[in-house]
Amino acid sequence: MRVGMLTGGGDCPGLNAVLRAAVRKGVQEYGHDFIGFRDGWRGPLEGDTRELDVPAVRGILSRGGTILGSSRTNPLKAEGGVRRIKENLAKFEVEALIAIGGEDTLGVAATLSASHGIPCVGVPKTIDNDLGSTDYTFGFDTAVNIATEAIDRLHTTAESHMRVLVIEVMGRHAGWIALHSGLAGGANVILIPEQRFDIDQVCGWVESRFRTGTAPVVVVAEGAMPKEGDMVVKNDEVDSFGHVRLSGIGDRLAQEIEQRTGKEARTTVLGHVQRGGTPSAFDRWLATRFGLHAIDAVNEGDYGKMVALQGTGIVRVPLTEATAQLKTVDPALYAEAGVFFG
Ligand code: F6P
Repeated sequence: MRVGMLTGGGDCPGLNAVLRAAVRKGVQEYGHDFIGFRDGWRGPLEGDTRELDVPAVRGILSRGGTILGSSRTNPLKAEGGVRRIKENLAKFEVEALIAIGGEDTLGVAATLSASHGIPCVGVPKTIDNDLGSTDYTFGFDTAVNIATEAIDRLHTTAESHMRVLVIEVMGRHAGWIALHSGLAGGANVILIPEQRFDIDQVCGWVESRFRTGTAPVVVVAEGAMPKEGDMVVKNDEVDSFGHVRLSGIGDRLAQEIEQRTGKEARTTVLGHVQRGGTPSAFDRWLATRFGLHAIDAVNEGDYGKMVALQGTGIVRVPLTEATAQLKTVDPALYAEAGVFFG
């Protein structure tokens, strides 16, 4: 049997580990062969492929990014998209597809599987950790580690200059990266999209931190919003899944803090640094296990499913269920961090 694989959406560390694991197990244990589709859903849509055999996946376990390339192509918006995908799968004699992606890429896999009979298995990735039905997505742990290291470094320079240092992290509409890295890095304020912030309260925390003789580090998620006001976007453009580009709240916040407290405030936007480079050991472990279980699902013909981490076990959940709703930070979990604010 020939299995197609693709990686879609924003890249993250661990994608290559999934490819390697699925190919190794698929070839060695089940006798399948593989073909890689380039750049997410653009590959099957346009019939753009690359070799994906055992030699092709050697030496990629620890490599960030994806050897298949990625894109935010939405084939459901393309003229004749489903028909073209079906034609290309037939042309390359592909009998099953493993799609590795976040809510958008896997949302497409869910529709193709449920409504168009295309046999898909999904693997959840994203630094945002916002996919339902799985405790963690791979890529998240690496991003949190990178952000935590940045926060550690910002503490020392904040204290040398007695400045407010604001760090803006990614995560889109979920505050997982901000919350985990903020807690791990001992941030003095953590702001997440799930809970609108009160700028007076933020300034209060900033001032109380200065009163202890040290300087505050404020972690703000790119999707965080003030009580009065809106999300800060880069521009009005939306991608083919209808998403705007976030970023800018860090600068806005620093300006407000400076004006209101009279303390110098600067911003670091971590950006794509969080998505690049070597995956952490946890992400390699998780991505590898996801790859092994995804090819098991294909081998059993268990389509329309996503592999997921629940506790320490890997389970299969319906793709439609996993992509129905974003997994956001529970208010009670966020409240736990409050003891460290100020
Ligand atoms: O979904 C991952 C992510 O990195 C988000 O945290 C961020 O908002 C978005 O992708 C950025 O996308 P791009 O790299 O396409 O600008």
